[in-house]
Amino acid sequence: MLGGKIQDAMNEQIKNEFFSAYQYLSMAAYCESANLPGSAQWMRAQAQEENEHAMKFYDFILERDGNVELKAIEGPRVEFGSPLEVFEGALEHERKVTAMINDLYALAMEERDYASQTFLQWFVTEQVEEEKNAGDVVETLKMVGGSNEALFLLDRELGQRQGDEPSAD
Ligand code: FEO
Repeated sequence: MLGGKIQDAMNEQIKNEFFSAYQYLSMAAYCESANLPGSAQWMRAQAQEENEHAMKFYDFILERDGNVELKAIEGPRVEFGSPLEVFEGALEHERKVTAMINDLYALAMEERDYASQTFLQWFVTEQVEEEKNAGDVVETLKMVGGSNEALFLLDRELGQRQGDEPSAD
């Protein structure tokens, strides 16, 4: 049975992960309209991962005989000034999510909830990857500067990303 505090925090995290999906879909729409289909595909794949993250919390709560409580999702940021601004936004967002996961882990330790700690370890590892993925693109975009040719090539590379999580479970 899941403790009340952990259950509340995990229900909140379901919302946060679905919000992340919303945020990435909004970024995908910007990339489409900026004629960057590869970057849009990258963002769509990321949105799909976020839905999967939300469902991991959803399933875990149910497995522990808890109650899933779906909350309202606020609107994401919709305006961006450049591809660099989009990916910087993604990195900043992932840093916030890392802090949320760390808070959840700290709560699970406080509550001596060992099953939740084990479950959350996957997310701790995942967040390292999430920050690295967005951070790598930010660094490359900074190198690209104003070169349309380099941006075109980078966009093509980003379009290779698929929606599957290679390291899941
Ligand atoms: Fe679910 Fe991007 O963290």
